[in-house]
Amino acid sequence: MTARVLDGKAIALQIRHEVQLEVAKVIEATGKAPCLAAVLVGDDPASQVYVRNKEMACHKAGIGSQLFRLPAETTTEQLLSLVEQLNNDPSVHGILVQLPLPKHIDERRVLDCVAPHKDVDAFAPENVGLMSQGRPRYLPCTPHGVMQLLHREGIETAGKEVVVIGRSDIVGKPLVSMLLQKSGPCGESNANATVTCVHSRTPNLSEVTCRADILIVAIGKANFVTAGMVKPGAVVIDVGINRSGDSIVGDVDYHAVKEVASAITPVPGGVGPLTIAMLLRNTLEAFRVAQLKMTT
Ligand code: GUN
Repeated sequence: MTARVLDGKAIALQIRHEVQLEVAKVIEATGKAPCLAAVLVGDDPASQVYVRNKEMACHKAGIGSQLFRLPAETTTEQLLSLVEQLNNDPSVHGILVQLPLPKHIDERRVLDCVAPHKDVDAFAPENVGLMSQGRPRYLPCTPHGVMQLLHREGIETAGKEVVVIGRSDIVGKPLVSMLLQKSGPCGESNANATVTCVHSRTPNLSEVTCRADILIVAIGKANFVTAGMVKPGAVVIDVGINRSGDSIVGDVDYHAVKEVASAITPVPGGVGPLTIAMLLRNTLEAFRVAQLKMTT
C-alpha cells in the first residue's frame, strides 16, 4: 500500500481564506481590525522565520500585526512590563510570546502574565482548563490544526483508537484532551476517540503504537517512527519539525511509513502550515471577545 498524502498546505490556505472573509466582515461592521502583537526575544533563526511568516499571514488576512523585537539580554522583569503594556492596550487583541525564550528568562512567569482573553496560543491555565472541560475559549494552534486536517480530509476520530506520541504542553497533552471530548472543533465525529498517550518513559512503545488506527507523532526526534511501529492501513500525522542539515524532516520515517499507512502528512507541508492558520482564527476570535467585553 502507498499512503494518500494529506495536503496540510492546501487546507491551511483554505482556512486562511475563510478567516480573511470573516475579517473583512468584522472590519465592515466595526470599522476596526483585529490585531496580533508578537514578541520576539533574541535572535534564534527559526523563531525569526516563524515570526516573519506570522506577520505576512496576518497581513494577507487583513489582520493588523505588531512585532516587538527585544535583545537576548532582556530581563524577565522587562519582558513582563511589555506584556503588561500589551494587556492594557485596547488596540491589541491577541498576544503571542514566541518560544523558546532565552534560558535566563522565567518562561512560566511571562506566559502566566498574558491576559487570558488575549492568549491566542491558549497556553494560560484558565484557557487550558476551559478546553479540558469541553468549553474552549481558544484552542491551541497546532493541535487544533491537526483536528481540522483530520476533519477536512474526511478522517473521523469517533470510536477510533488514537495513539499520541509525546506529552508536551503545546501539542501532546492538548491533543489528548481534544480527542477525548464528546464534541470536537468540527463536531462529534471529530472527537470521541479512545486515546492513549505514549512518551519517552513508555515501555514497549511500539506494541502500543501498532494498535493505533490514527497515530499522531509529536516527540521531537527525527525519523523516530519506523514502519514496524505502524499498523498497516493506519493514518499517520507527523507534527515533528527537525532540522537535518539544510532540510527539515519530521518525527516519522516518511518514505518507509508511507508504504504501510493509508494516509500520511509530509514534512514540510503537512501540519506545519496549519499552526499559523489557526493562530489567525484565534486572533479573530480574540477580537470578537474584546468586542463582547466592550458591550457587556
Ligand atoms: N514556538 C514554536 N511553536 C510555537 C507556538 O505555537 N507558539 C509560540 N508562542 N511559540 C512557539
